[in-house]
Amino acid sequence: MKTLVIGTGGREHALALALSLDPGVSEVHAAPGNPGIAAVATLHDVDPMDGAAVAALSVELGIDLVVVGPEAPLVAGVADSVRAAGIAVYGPSAAAAQLEGSKAFSKDVMAAAGVPTAGSHVCTTPEEAAAALDGFGAPYVVKDDALAAGKGVVVTTDRDEALAHAATCDRVVIEEFLDGPEVSLFAVCDGRTARALQPAQDFKRIFDGGRGANTGGMGSYSPLPWAPPGLADDVLASVVQPTLDEMNRRGTPFVGTLYVGLALTATGPRVIEFNCRFGDPDIQPVLALLESPLGVLLHAAATGRLDSVAPPTFADGASVTVVMASAGYPESSSKGDVIVGTETLDKETDVDVIHAGTALVSTSSTGGDRLVTAGGRVLAVRAVGSDIADARAKAYEGIASISFPGAQWRRDIAAEPLGVVEGASLKENL
Ligand code: AMP
Ligand code: GLY
Repeated sequence: MKTLVIGTGGREHALALALSLDPGVSEVHAAPGNPGIAAVATLHDVDPMDGAAVAALSVELGIDLVVVGPEAPLVAGVADSVRAAGIAVYGPSAAAAQLEGSKAFSKDVMAAAGVPTAGSHVCTTPEEAAAALDGFGAPYVVKDDALAAGKGVVVTTDRDEALAHAATCDRVVIEEFLDGPEVSLFAVCDGRTARALQPAQDFKRIFDGGRGANTGGMGSYSPLPWAPPGLADDVLASVVQPTLDEMNRRGTPFVGTLYVGLALTATGPRVIEFNCRFGDPDIQPVLALLESPLGVLLHAAATGRLDSVAPPTFADGASVTVVMASAGYPESSSKGDVIVGTETLDKETDVDVIHAGTALVSTSSTGGDRLVTAGGRVLAVRAVGSDIADARAKAYEGIASISFPGAQWRRDIAAEPLGVVEGASLKENL
């Protein structure tokens, strides 16, 4: 099977790496990819947002499966263009990607499907926003309705800050605060059927202890020894299947990843958000532990045959991913800072350097290429170990051997006690 991964981040690097390890996959291509992906895939300089160009590349290469990584091309309809060219694509149509593209749409689907989630109001004026905030009370949760790369959400006890964020959005969703540890559950969907991957946890805030601004994710680990047994099956039954059924009823079947962001509250799991693709970095430790072939699973989903393949299986042990971000992240990012130390880790078997915002620049003095920063989240060190503590120690050993000016990373990813997590600490720090 020839595969093509669309995107340029850490998620796409982890996907390309896992596809390259599937014996059923003969070729891995990526567009546009990044310097890390280049080690496991052939890169093509094609705009991931240009559906016609992605479809043309897929036809030219004779691709059997296209995997669209990020939300922006999915919301823009890139999967529709590939599907229209007769090629199997893992990723939802533009219509189905509205589950992530519009928070108001996803809330409407959740309500129709009876999915447990936070109460919410969609507001378009400052008066409506103020009334909704006062209705729910503090802590306040204010979400920009539009796509915002994980950064459009403000959770605060400060009413003025909540109102100020609402004022920056055209349409804003104001929600009830959900208290409890957060879990990322990825459901691989073929339109009718879903298979859950092993749950993971993502650390979203920039600073240790769950402080500071929300980011796209600063680290993650899997599995979650403290999560209730049967959580994945429970969420498939109470959240994923009703959502797939509702999307079918609307004539827009969902094919791809339904990423269920959950809070495990005192009254059971409730949905914080839906995304229409794998989470980054949350998917990275999950893929590190996946034993069954990824290409077979995603191809079955893309072609409506999930019930014909065995459910995914995972290795024992654990995996931990720690992100290194550039100076200024998440408000801005710093480009061109020279990265040193990745080469030694590339030789380790239990540790991978997963590239996100990196680039190669040629240096006239030495004639060689230098790896430099090219975005907010620059790279991640991902390790597998016998348990979380072992994987964590290896990941931080890796982090210690890499450096670039202004590098930022959290010191508490997957730290003990494992039950004290972002959702809980968030509340603690408000
Ligand atoms: P989202 O982009 O919707 O995932 O929100 C980003 C982060 O804000 C989540 O991962 C949570 O940490 C927090 N958050 C969002 N919605 C809520 C909520 N209703 N209650 C508590 N925390 C929330
Ligand atoms: N890590 C969170 C996300 O991908 O949205």
